[in-house]
Amino acid sequence: MRPTKIAEGIYSVGVIDWNIRDFHGYSTDRGSSYNAFLIIDEKIALIDTVKKEFADQLIKNICDIIDPKKIDYLISNHTEMDHSGSLPPVMRAIGENKPLYCSKMGLKNIQRHFPQKWNFHAVENGEELCLGNKTLQFIETKMLHWPDSMFSYLKEDKILFSSDAFGQHYAGYEIFNDQVGEAIMPHAKKYFANILLLYAPRILKLVDQIAELGLKFEMICPDHGVLWRNNPSEIIDAYVKWSRQEGEKKAVVVYDTMWHSTETMAEAISSSIAEEGVAACPINIRNSHRSDIVTAVLDAKAVIVGSPTLNNGLFPTVSDFLTYMKGLKPQNKIAAAFGSYGWSGEAVDLINKEFESMKLEILDPGLKIQYVPDNEAMDACFQFGKKIAKAVSR
Ligand code: FEO
Repeated sequence: MRPTKIAEGIYSVGVIDWNIRDFHGYSTDRGSSYNAFLIIDEKIALIDTVKKEFADQLIKNICDIIDPKKIDYLISNHTEMDHSGSLPPVMRAIGENKPLYCSKMGLKNIQRHFPQKWNFHAVENGEELCLGNKTLQFIETKMLHWPDSMFSYLKEDKILFSSDAFGQHYAGYEIFNDQVGEAIMPHAKKYFANILLLYAPRILKLVDQIAELGLKFEMICPDHGVLWRNNPSEIIDAYVKWSRQEGEKKAVVVYDTMWHSTETMAEAISSSIAEEGVAACPINIRNSHRSDIVTAVLDAKAVIVGSPTLNNGLFPTVSDFLTYMKGLKPQNKIAAAFGSYGWSGEAVDLINKEFESMKLEILDPGLKIQYVPDNEAMDACFQFGKKIAKAVSR
């Protein structure tokens, strides 16, 4: 992608990663981008770099606008390697002695990634850097996404450089949200569900803090995906809604199956929930990526998980999903377990243990069916579904 002017004196100089399909375990079906921004004033600042494989593209993009040696400051909002991987070649290009601004945790974390003794400047929360007519203000945003994360806010232009927050793994030639339209929201939602959900309480506090500071936004520029130019409050409102996890009238029925018995149960339970006017859909884990399933779980009131018992334990795909979901700390969910078994039947109890450790509301001890569901077992599945629907609707 060629550099693009996004406001007077401000350029997007990042790169598109068209081919990435797995971002540390998250399926990125539409690729991604690593955004970086050049601010040209009396002094010149570069905000963030890109994954190391794309360093040459970033430097070429900068060269299309200015000689990199003219850059006075490099601002690192976040140490994760998709944004810091190109620091060594970029620092060589701009001059190894140029000040590298980062948070205090950023200083520690960059030093744990790179041996170079750069000219670090660890900022205080709220500290400002005057570039001439434009002023950058740094805002600590610990755990959005790492302990080192911070925002950089360009006060006069009211532009927020938000690092990972408000991003989307979306590769495209569109620069701004209005060029994609509402179709960008599912990408933003999936990104939130998989990257930021576990920090939801911090996000709500941060939104309050931003309101207290009276910050206004003409544009929000994340480090992934499109920039929020049209109605940037839309994505902030969406983050507040997703962080509250109030849950819609919806149940996600996730399962795997050995000989179709647990699948038969899943379909009967899901159908029974839907008959009661609650949105429901059975999802076979083997046909859906875990990152898409947790996106479906994000705004559901209930998560129902089914597993056959295999070798006295859970089916491996179900363990994988539960481990992944547990790490993301979903809250305010009703949960229930089900599954078929042959002779021991531990799976349902093991799912419940995972639900307990996630502090979800376990609706029922769970439904176990031996071998193949008969008419009586199918009736039990329908009753199980009705109980779930009633709980979701209360
Ligand atoms: Fe886009 Fe936490 O890195």
